[in-house]
Amino acid sequence: GGDGPTAPARTPPDAVTVAMELLSPEGRADPYPLYAAAHRLGPVSGIGDGWFLVVGYDAVNQVLRRTGFGVSGAQISPQRLAEHASLALLAPSILESDPPEHTRMRSLIGSVFTQRRISALEPMITAAVDALLDRLAETGARRADGEAVDFMAEFAFPLPVAVICEMLGVPDADRQRFRTLAAGLTTALEFMSDPEGLAPADAAATELADYFTALIADRRAGRREDGEDDLVGALLAARDAEDARLSEAELLANLTLLLVAGFETTTDLLGNGLGALFDHPATARRLRSADGDVAAFVEEVLRYESPVQLTSRVALADGLEVAGVPVPSGSRLILLLGAANRDPARYRDPDTFDPSRTAVKPLSFGVGAHVCLGNGLARLEAAVAFPRLLARFPDLAPAAPPTRRDRAVLRGYETFPVRLGRPR
Ligand code: HEM
Repeated sequence: GGDGPTAPARTPPDAVTVAMELLSPEGRADPYPLYAAAHRLGPVSGIGDGWFLVVGYDAVNQVLRRTGFGVSGAQISPQRLAEHASLALLAPSILESDPPEHTRMRSLIGSVFTQRRISALEPMITAAVDALLDRLAETGARRADGEAVDFMAEFAFPLPVAVICEMLGVPDADRQRFRTLAAGLTTALEFMSDPEGLAPADAAATELADYFTALIADRRAGRREDGEDDLVGALLAARDAEDARLSEAELLANLTLLLVAGFETTTDLLGNGLGALFDHPATARRLRSADGDVAAFVEEVLRYESPVQLTSRVALADGLEVAGVPVPSGSRLILLLGAANRDPARYRDPDTFDPSRTAVKPLSFGVGAHVCLGNGLARLEAAVAFPRLLARFPDLAPAAPPTRRDRAVLRGYETFPVRLGRPR
């Protein structure tokens, strides 16, 4: 037989192309096909200029746990810090520090942010959830039949705000302002945020720093009655103790971090979870009647749609390797948490949402030294919120397709119009 025409070979994208496309609007809207392509290339790929893309579950897990890798925030140049109040404010925080600073601050803040303290918040969280559901029911009653309500604005955003402000001892009257400031500052946490884009973050940082400075001064002067036992009080006590285990800049940085780290991330978990419920009515039915496993549902939402899609590290030592790939000192590693959570080597049918999976250990909160301090809190908020939401609004349904925020790091919805139906 003769040589028939051969189909043109479709060249799979290389790692550089995958990385570029992940930063494009289309890639941000739906990164999952790109993650699948990256997995086919291997757990770790060099993308030039000393940068590496890490997508394998085991590889990401390893990098986060090993001491040879530092946080890249610690690498921001003094010049950039001088130019941007947002970067300077957060730079001394635990998130951006390596040992020994990290170890010292982490044990201090960790001792305040205990599982016991978090569990003790459940009644407060339940009350905050119910207050928002009451307000939704009132809003629904005022609206014409079937008119849409934005779940993000009316529930997913205010809940974490209320909870963190309660923990930090931020008075009710200041919460609205905090929402705006925190939203402004989170752009500083975006990966490779362009310098121009930092202007609103810088403005927000300056205002937040002033706010906390005044709050701290008031507390020191005994001008505020509120709880000795809240986070501000506990951190202040550590700062003002004989051995001053926290500098003033660190106190401010960590208060700000606690505020911003738990806002949009938890909002996104709630929005992403709602999307999963609408796509999986049987799961919703089980959670509504309280015989569903809400913890397993939340873990699968975290795995399937990680609110934080990526973090990064810098190789601090010579001779390091990850999954057999040598990573010279000074290399920068982009750790795709959202891709690791869908590693076919770790999860069967990784692109299928399945809350009946067992042994789900998503990397959505990181692992190792920097593992999210608020993970217990975020999980608790979601576990309290979903069954109560579903029980209160049994006919809850999407009113229009949700819209996404166009971000590379934080994955979540901007708006999610829903029809509430009659409340119970
Ligand atoms: C660290 C995700 C909610 C406070 C982290 C990290 C991730 C993460 C991935 C590690 C970053 C890294 O290693 O580079 C999330 C997600 C959340 C959430 C997905 C919600 C669904 C919260 C909440 C709080 C919080 C509610 C506090 C109220 C922190 C802090 C750190 C951190 C303080 C820094 C820990 C350290 O550097 O030692 N979070 N977070 N997070 N998170 Fe969260």
